[in-house]
Amino acid sequence: MTTTISPLIAGNWKMNGTRGALDELQALADMLTTGEAPRAIVVVCPPATMLAAVARQGATSGIQAGGQDCHAAASGAHTGDIAAGMLADAGAQYVIVGHSERRADHGETDDQVRAKAEAAIGAGLKPIICVGETEAQRDSGQADSVVASQLAGSVPDAAGQHEVIVAYEPVWAIGTGRTPTNDDIASMHASIRRQLVDRFGDKGQVIRILYGGSLKPQNAREILAVEHVNGGLVGGASLLAKDFYTIISAV
Ligand code: 13P
Repeated sequence: MTTTISPLIAGNWKMNGTRGALDELQALADMLTTGEAPRAIVVVCPPATMLAAVARQGATSGIQAGGQDCHAAASGAHTGDIAAGMLADAGAQYVIVGHSERRADHGETDDQVRAKAEAAIGAGLKPIICVGETEAQRDSGQADSVVASQLAGSVPDAAGQHEVIVAYEPVWAIGTGRTPTNDDIASMHASIRRQLVDRFGDKGQVIRILYGGSLKPQNAREILAVEHVNGGLVGGASLLAKDFYTIISAV
């Protein structure tokens, strides 16, 4: 982990969680406030229906809230969509954009992801911009070029002046229990870092690069120690307070 960057661990609840999940959030809050102070910024990204409640309840224990997606427009005739400003109004400080599940399920392109990231910045949110290759792309030796192209297309120029976060999530590692080797993670994160520095200079040195994809209590310590891994984006293991707390404590 690069020492000058404070690490961040974000939980992505995806389409999981109704009001009962607030008990689990409270259990996490209790662990975070009774144990040793966490060495990471802790963010929980619940479904939009839970955002205001998570933001309110998490505030007392330092847990910050994030959305899982936003629309690129500030308002308008977009039934079912949510503007970045609405997430901010509900208490969010972060928003995930370009998650591979959005790219796959909703056909989101790099251009759209970049526009969403810009909208997030405009609303005062910190976008967590996701990139990552599929298994076929990795097997055919295209992982680096695919991620480089997603990064170039999805990260807005505004990242030079505003806080953005990049999350490397190999699609084949999401929800599968499989992870890249530490060497592969190190190599991809170093390549993302080089690209950010090439484009943003010194600012590129301090943009957090999170790892996501089957991050678990069992592997968190070694993965989070890899160079240029500045924290994690956690799916399944963020749903259980005990597991998520163990990952946070592994920083
Ligand atoms: P899992 O941790 O369940 O593999 O999900 C990772 C992810 O997609 C986080 O955004």
